[in-house]
Amino acid sequence: MSPGAELRIHVLDDVEAAARATAELLCADARAGSSIALSGGSTPRRAYEHAALLEPDWGRAKIWLGDERCVPADDERSNRRLVEEALLRRLSRPPEPHWVDTTLPPDEAAAAYTTTLLGVTLDLVLLGLGGDGHTASLFPRAAALDESEALVIAAEAGLSPWVPRVTLTIPTISAARHVVFLAVGSEKAEPARRAFAERPSRSTPASLVRSRNGPTTVILDRAAAADLPSTR
Ligand code: 6PG
Repeated sequence: MSPGAELRIHVLDDVEAAARATAELLCADARAGSSIALSGGSTPRRAYEHAALLEPDWGRAKIWLGDERCVPADDERSNRRLVEEALLRRLSRPPEPHWVDTTLPPDEAAAAYTTTLLGVTLDLVLLGLGGDGHTASLFPRAAALDESEALVIAAEAGLSPWVPRVTLTIPTISAARHVVFLAVGSEKAEPARRAFAERPSRSTPASLVRSRNGPTTVILDRAAAADLPSTR
């Protein structure tokens, strides 16, 4: 599937500004009672912390994870733990959360997570960008990139942490009304160029992920945007 047309790239001065810009997008959807899939990894932590300060009432929203590591919920590698620590515990009214049941084997966890998304169109999906160009747990040249039917699948890790994963598929993410990428730091400059300024490629999964039903927004700090043509 070729990525959608409307790609909006915003370059912010620094990491904090990128986090605040992301938080503003998240909070607008939280206030609207949206269905939001949140990213794991380390980058979004500051955005979640800003979001909790900006809008403490997420009571009308529902949240999912774009992907999860198959580890216990209190494991430091858990994306659920990240979201609970950086966002949910800081809110006056938390959203309705939908977590991956990582007590199940990965395939069963993916099947169970699928049932939480039946009939759901996600309003906003927040994604990160790996140094290898992956996003969610969609890794370069992985079979997961060819999944055209399932909403959620189990996936092998293509980077640390080397644990099995559960991930939304490209069709699920692309069906969202708004896809938002957040990437910061000089180590994301090269993958950002491949993902957002070059032809779509299975070697850069983020280049294959765009919203089909609305805009795709890319939020970068200057360091991560350094290799983009317009900022050279
Ligand atoms: C995960 C994330 C993954 C992440 C990238 C970037 O579960 O790890 O979903 O796609 O967004 O790997 O990670 P950093 O933000 O830590 O660089």
